[in-house]
Amino acid sequence: MDQDALKKAAAEAALAFVEDGMMVGVGTGSTVNHFIAALAARRFDLAGTVSSSEASAARLRAAGIPVLELNATDGCDVYVDGADEVTGALAMIKGGGGALTREKIVAQASRRFVCIADASKLVERLGKFPLPVEVIPMARSLVGRALVGLGGRPVLREGVVTDNGNLILDVHGLDIADPAGLESEINQLPGVVTNGIFARRPADVLLLAAPGGVRRLDRP
Ligand code: A5P
Repeated sequence: MDQDALKKAAAEAALAFVEDGMMVGVGTGSTVNHFIAALAARRFDLAGTVSSSEASAARLRAAGIPVLELNATDGCDVYVDGADEVTGALAMIKGGGGALTREKIVAQASRRFVCIADASKLVERLGKFPLPVEVIPMARSLVGRALVGLGGRPVLREGVVTDNGNLILDVHGLDIADPAGLESEINQLPGVVTNGIFARRPADVLLLAAPGGVRRLDRP
């Protein structure tokens, strides 16, 4: 089974967490694209969806699924999204697709977070995947120097402007022994919008697809 087939299997398993009448938060990325296709095929009678990116919103609308502004809702019943890395405690690195800030907002506004991933995303310790940090453009160098001070090697993601008009620094070489602590520390740097550690609001459920099937892990 190739990696894309595993992503599809995880995405389809997430349909078990969706019911008619729900407000569904929808993340971003290739795994979520399978989820959007599966959601469209099942023709749920949803209250609506809230998207974490313009790209996912366009896919949802193209599939005939209503997309609402988060401010027009009282949050989501469930949020379904992928991850770049995820631990057994369901802390994650996200933002490989650059949508980390809106992902963190929708995750925070959701009563349940279901992470969908192929088994290659499961790690003992976060940090091998470079940590995305969204920064306000004028603070790029200031934040970069601070990230070097934290032991990282920030690299500007060339040619990328986020949906919020900002830049992404991908930070290599960070030792993420304390995900929630580092998440807070980086978010305190002036000019940082947010960083891609999702530990303060981790996933509640992980659906992890391997060739033998989709395994469910609940947050300890
Ligand atoms: C998007 O910004 C990310 O947080 C994605 O959730 C992450 O990159 C997973 O992407 P894939 O599903 O494409 O692997």
